[in-house]
Amino acid sequence: MANDTNKFQAIISHCKEYGFIFPSSEIYDGLQAVYDYGQMGSELKKNIKDYWWKSMTQLQDNIVGIDAAIFMHPTTWKASGHVDNFNDPMIDNKDSKKRYRVDHLIEGYAEMLKAENQMQKADGLLASMDALLAKDDFEGLKKLIEDNKISCAISGTCNWTDIRQFNLMFSTEFGSTVSSDDEDNKVYLRPETAQGIFVNFLNVQKTGRMKIPFGIAQIGKAFRNEIVARQFIFRMREFEQMEMQFFIRPGTQKEWYEFWKTERLKWHQSLGIPAEKYRYHDHVKLAHYADAACDIEFEFPIGFKELEGIHSRTDFDLKQHQEYSKKKQQYFDNDTDPATGKPFGNYIPYVIETSIGLDRMFLAVISQAYEEQDLSTAEKQDSRVVLKFPPKLAPIKLAVLPLTKKDGLPEIAALIMKDCKPHFRCFYEEKDSIGKRYRRMDALGTPFCVTVDHQSKEDNTVTIRHRDSMEQERVPVDKIKDIVLASL
Ligand code: GAP
Repeated sequence: MANDTNKFQAIISHCKEYGFIFPSSEIYDGLQAVYDYGQMGSELKKNIKDYWWKSMTQLQDNIVGIDAAIFMHPTTWKASGHVDNFNDPMIDNKDSKKRYRVDHLIEGYAEMLKAENQMQKADGLLASMDALLAKDDFEGLKKLIEDNKISCAISGTCNWTDIRQFNLMFSTEFGSTVSSDDEDNKVYLRPETAQGIFVNFLNVQKTGRMKIPFGIAQIGKAFRNEIVARQFIFRMREFEQMEMQFFIRPGTQKEWYEFWKTERLKWHQSLGIPAEKYRYHDHVKLAHYADAACDIEFEFPIGFKELEGIHSRTDFDLKQHQEYSKKKQQYFDNDTDPATGKPFGNYIPYVIETSIGLDRMFLAVISQAYEEQDLSTAEKQDSRVVLKFPPKLAPIKLAVLPLTKKDGLPEIAALIMKDCKPHFRCFYEEKDSIGKRYRRMDALGTPFCVTVDHQSKEDNTVTIRHRDSMEQERVPVDKIKDIVLASL
C-alpha cells in the first residue's frame, strides 16, 4: 500500500490551523515528539477516552477502572523487567552522528524496495530481520545492514557503529539535595500504565470483591525516551495509554487471548471505520513478559502501523511483584475444578492485556475522517475539507447560526443554545456569510448546523444541514435536540 505523505502533511497542517494539535511550547520552537492538544483536539481526545472507558468498564460486568499515580516505587520497574529489558537496539552513523533504531532503519529500506516493486527482496529482508531480532543477534543485524548497503539518509554512507541497547525510561529524583546519579532516589516516569494496575491487583480484588475472571482498566500518561520520534503524534515521548489487564485462571489464557483479540477489533469497527483499514499482526519476537502477542494495525496515511497491542502476559508481572515485594499476589478460587472435584484454590492469576495508545487512536480517527472534496460545478470552482467524524466523537455536535445579527434571529438562536447546551457540545457563530460558516464547521467535523432565518420567526422552524451529504431540511425548533441526540 503506497504511503500518502501529502495527506499526512495536510492532516498535520489542518490539526494546527483548526486548533486540534500544536507543537509543545511552540514559541520556543517546540520540543521534539511532544505535542499539545488545542481546544478542538482536547474535545476529540476526551470523546475517544469516554467511548473506550464506557465500553471497557460500564458496559462490562466484570471490569472496573482505576487511576494510579505516574510515579511508582522504583522497585516496580526492576520487578517488571523495564530497568533491564526495556531497550531498543540502536545504531549510529559515524559520519552524520545520526542515531537510528535498527528495526526502523531496515524497515525504511524495505519500504523503499517495495516502492521499487522489489517485493521478494523486501520480504526476505524483513524476515531475516525478524529472525535476528528474535535472537538479539546484533552482529547478524549489523551484517544485514552492511550486506544490503543500507545507508544513512543524511550522510549517504554505510559507516556504522556497532549496535547497542538504549533504555527508553525517563528518570528524575525525589527530594531536594540529591545528585542525578543517586540511584536510591531515582524515580521513573512510568513507561506503561499497566504496572499501576498490577501493583493494585489485590487492593481492587479485595475491596471490589472481584471474582476471576475480571479486569482492571486505566487511562493515563506514559513516557518513553523514543530515539526516532518524527511521525507527528504516532510516536511521542509523552503520550496516553488506555490499558486493561484481564485476570484469569492459569491454563485459560489461549481462549481469553482469542476472545480479547476479537472483542477489540469489534470495538474499532463499532466506530464505523471500514474493516479493511485494520489487520492483525502476530508478534514473532515476544516481549519479555508475553507467551503470545499481536497488534491490531491500522492503515494510517504512513501505511499499516500498530494501533493496539493484545498481550498474553502469563503470570509474569504478579509473580515478579510477589518476589520483589515479598507480598503474596495470590487469589483464592473457590470454584470447583471438574478434574479433581475440589476448589481450584490459591494461584497467581494469568493476565491478558489490551493496550491502545490514545494519541494513535486520535490519529487513526482524524486520518479516517479527513477528506478533501472538489465541489466545483460548471458555474463555479469550489472545494471543501471535511472531517467526517462519527458524531459521538465529534468535538462539536451542533452549530447554531443566525442568518443575520439582527431582526430577533440571535434571540431565537440563543433559545436553541439554551435548550441543547446541557446535552451536548454546541457552538454559536454569527460572523461571516453562512457559506463560510458551513465550511468552517465542516473543517471542524461538526455533524449538524442549524440556520435561524426570517421564516423561523414565523413558523418556529430552522434549516438543519447534514455535514456529510450537505443536505438541508426544514425542522421544527423543538426537534433539533432529539435529532442530534439520536445520532450520538
Ligand atoms: N503495557 C503494554 C504496552 O505498553 P506497547 O505495545 O509498548 O505495550 C501499547 O504499547 C500501545 O501504546 C501501542 O500499541 C501504541 O498505540 C501506544 N504507544 C506506545 N508507544 C508510543 C509512543 N511512543 N507514542 C504514542 N503511542 C505509543
